[in-house]
Amino acid sequence: MNDHPLGTTLELANRVDSIERLRWAKFYADRKRPCPFFGSDPDDNLVEWVNAGRIVAGAALDIGCGNGRNSIYLASKHFSVQGIDLSEQAIAWARERAGANQRTIDFVCGSIFDNVPKPHSLDFVYDSGCFHHLPPHHRRNYAELVASALKPGAFFGLTCFAPEGGSGYTDEQVYENGTIGGGLGYSDNWLHDFWGQHLEVAEINRMNETSADSGRFGKSFLWVMLARAR
Ligand SMILES: C[S@@+](CC[C@H](N)C(=O)[O-])C[C@H]1O[C@@H](n2cnc3c(N)ncnc32)[C@H](O)[C@@H]1O
Repeated sequence: MNDHPLGTTLELANRVDSIERLRWAKFYADRKRPCPFFGSDPDDNLVEWVNAGRIVAGAALDIGCGNGRNSIYLASKHFSVQGIDLSEQAIAWARERAGANQRTIDFVCGSIFDNVPKPHSLDFVYDSGCFHHLPPHHRRNYAELVASALKPGAFFGLTCFAPEGGSGYTDEQVYENGTIGGGLGYSDNWLHDFWGQHLEVAEINRMNETSADSGRFGKSFLWVMLARAR
């Protein structure tokens, strides 16, 4: 491990991990908090992909599922869904919402890194806003576990902060500050190069900005990426 004025690389990584874990544990305590993704609407891009037949029902994993809004949508479209999230309160909320919507979904509380999906077991992996909250030292592992979990030709969908949506921290600042500061923004070129090492990137577009009454979640400071397992 390299030395750093603030501690070893491992110590710095552990510090950021525990701060982020605590942040999410508290984040969902107040369900009335004015947070854009505390609603029940599924992502606009997800609805578009399903309507267009680009992704079709099968075994799906929603990583960092939060209150379950996208998991519940996928279940309504006959996907067999597992949703995983670090936050106990998010998972409790997701379970309540799935029950109220009469959807059977396997919601798991924990980190994706401790609950690695079986190789080639999934027809669709979705991540709406989790990757941009991962500290840099998890990025490669994450992409490898996503790529390995997908069946050949299956899709990974991602929504992720564009540079203006994130904290603006460099990787080094993440470890100096001990936090990723509300999420990391990425350029489309960066996403293309990074995810292209693991998957075949089919498209990267800005998310459509939707109106509050559209029934779909959409914010234009996010990228939407669809990529396919080789
Ligand atoms: C911005 S929120 C998005 C929630 C949800 N996908 C949505 O769009 O409504 C990011 C979520 O990722 C979860 N998360 C962060 N790191 C995680 C990890 N290592 N494993 C599982 N979930 C994680 C957080 O607890 C949080 O609920």
